[in-house]
Amino acid sequence: MTDEWRGWREAAQAALYGDEGFYRSPARSPEGPAGHFRTSVHASPLFATAVARLLTGIARELDTGTVALVDVGAGRGELLTGVLAALPEGLDVAPYAVEVAGRPPGLDPRIEWCAEPPAGVTGLLFANEWLDNVPVEVAETDAEGVPRYVRVRASDGAERLGDPVAGADAAWLERWWPLSAPGERAEIGRPRDTAWAGAVGSLTAGLAVAVDYAHVRGARPPFGTLTGFRGGREVRPVPDGSCDLTAHVALDACAAAATEAVAEAGTGASTELTGQREALRRLGVGGDRPPLSLATTDPAGYVRALAAAGEAAELTARGGLGDFGWLLHRVGLPEPG
Ligand SMILES: C[S@@+](CC[C@H](N)C(=O)[O-])C[C@H]1O[C@@H](n2cnc3c(N)ncnc32)[C@H](O)[C@@H]1O
Repeated sequence: MTDEWRGWREAAQAALYGDEGFYRSPARSPEGPAGHFRTSVHASPLFATAVARLLTGIARELDTGTVALVDVGAGRGELLTGVLAALPEGLDVAPYAVEVAGRPPGLDPRIEWCAEPPAGVTGLLFANEWLDNVPVEVAETDAEGVPRYVRVRASDGAERLGDPVAGADAAWLERWWPLSAPGERAEIGRPRDTAWAGAVGSLTAGLAVAVDYAHVRGARPPFGTLTGFRGGREVRPVPDGSCDLTAHVALDACAAAATEAVAEAGTGASTELTGQREALRRLGVGGDRPPLSLATTDPAGYVRALAAAGEAAELTARGGLGDFGWLLHRVGLPEPG
């Protein structure tokens, strides 16, 4: 912890990923991310089942021997564990967990634990709630309408305005999140664009998917979304390592960065930005209740189907997980029919 004033990007990087950081220190977060907030992965095994279906479809299209399944920002490996359990017999999968935190004890030995996405693999790269944790600078417009970097003090989260936003950050704001009125704020998503373009670029062929709280140009939140989470509650964002620090993702900017990078590398790619409700519906997860008649013919099956419908409803809820954005890039694959 320090009393220095720093930009949010540097402060959050230290608070989340420094030696004593929120995601690195087992003492601060013994249960991993699941102890502090609930992602789709924790909400229901239906999510892993849907990802298993996605992987199976991609494996069929690729028609190669082994397909890679790369989970970026893998937490404690919960999604990979769930997907491996849901895969059909006979599919040869190489699972990779890309994670800043250490490998948890007892994890399936087939899962390779790595610090970076493996280069040149073929298969599915999936990143659920990773990009919102990639630290970014925060900008705020001063009384004269000039966007300035926000500087923050780690000890208490106090903020003050610093230098005017300049260079590539200013160009990013202009293109993706223009600010005008005094007091408006934006999170400058450039590091996320770079991170996502790098992750997508690690695939030789296959599908890359980023799932996150998202917004797009024309509908940005006027004061940004930077916030904190600790122990299941939203808290004031203080970059002292005691809480998660997260901000919704400009997924349209990430989409453009990855598309440009893949085009530069000469690999064909098609890009789609959709919502979790629609993406999961395509993968067979809806919120429909089972027919009441099943309660008489198969009471146990009815109860199971009812529970699954409740979980599917949570994953696809308006105002909740269903509003998440899904950004999909098909790399080196033909356009979907
Ligand atoms: C919000 S958690 C999501 C965990 C899991 N994907 C889920 O949906 O439950 C974000 C995770 O991303 C990891 N992370 C953040 N930046 C990373 C990076 N550059 N490389 C690898 N992991 C990263 C964090 O350590 C954390 O475990």
